[in-house]
Amino acid sequence: MPEFQRAPYPTTRMRRIRRHDWARRMVAENALTAADLIWPWFVFDGNGRQRVDSLPGVDRLGADQIARQAVMACELGIPAIAVFPATDSKLKTEDAREATNADNLVCRTVRAIKAEVGDSLGVICDVALDPYSSHGHDGLVVGDYVVNDETVEVLCQQSIVQANAGCDIIAPSDMMDGRIGAIRTALDGAGKSDVQIMSYAAKYASAFYGPFRDAVGSSGNLAGGSKKTYQQSPTQSDEALHEVALDLAEGADSVMVKPGMPYLDIVHRVKSTFAVPTFAYQVSGEYAMICAAAQNGWLNRSQVMIESLMGFKRAGADGVLTYFAADAAKLLKADG
Ligand code: PBG
Repeated sequence: MPEFQRAPYPTTRMRRIRRHDWARRMVAENALTAADLIWPWFVFDGNGRQRVDSLPGVDRLGADQIARQAVMACELGIPAIAVFPATDSKLKTEDAREATNADNLVCRTVRAIKAEVGDSLGVICDVALDPYSSHGHDGLVVGDYVVNDETVEVLCQQSIVQANAGCDIIAPSDMMDGRIGAIRTALDGAGKSDVQIMSYAAKYASAFYGPFRDAVGSSGNLAGGSKKTYQQSPTQSDEALHEVALDLAEGADSVMVKPGMPYLDIVHRVKSTFAVPTFAYQVSGEYAMICAAAQNGWLNRSQVMIESLMGFKRAGADGVLTYFAADAAKLLKADG
């Protein structure tokens, strides 16, 4: 006689379907494919590649690297890339006027990509003034405040030069009020009604953007200033839904939540509330912390990469902007 009361045998045994690989694959509810990945690029004015210390494995690309990397994205089955410029500090001004130069680094890059791969690859351009402003803010500054409506006018011009260069998706990341509607009207007026808008609708004032600011060279410009008067506070959840509702009403084709991993609850709420194309940005700091742990031998880079990206799919994201895009696509290709 055992000295304890034996529990009845369980009739439901969850482990039956976990026993073999074929069974685990058979019941898989979510899948990650290369088509889920959007690849952010940093570009600089010059040739060759520049390393970014805080983003190991992510180089700034010179003009001579663009065509080859665009072909590689296509071969990997990545549907779209997003371009971010490391603007020469000599071109940065208070009014960020380089943002509206039809021949600026972003526009030249977009033309080079399109000349090489045409419509085989979607090109996304960020709309915000921080890569061009001497103060590192996303908008125009009057006194010590980022002014809304004056900024939106510049963002409309920036969107038009990017669309004229061949950009497929305008992605406003500035968090000014009313910019989606204004940009939609401006694009339509410029004969660009086919150009999509992917709104950074729920963008938080986050410390996870640090390495990005190194990559575009805006961290020094911002000099301790914060973006809290326009980006959302991490305390906010319902407010994100309000932002998304406004951007959709103003004409956004798709919306984004940013950062990613600490905000998967927001991704899930946005997708389940609005049922529209919803993207998440696994931002620079998220990438950097995984790489740093992997470099120390504390985490397995490939496994954590795939697991983290699967988390976005499970939360409901239709795609993820991630610096892991090429590595993940290569791995998926090798496994498939
Ligand atoms: C610019 C912009 C930022 C990022 C994307 N667009 C930085 C910021 O708002 O300061 C961050 C992306 C990343 O960290 O990978 N408005």
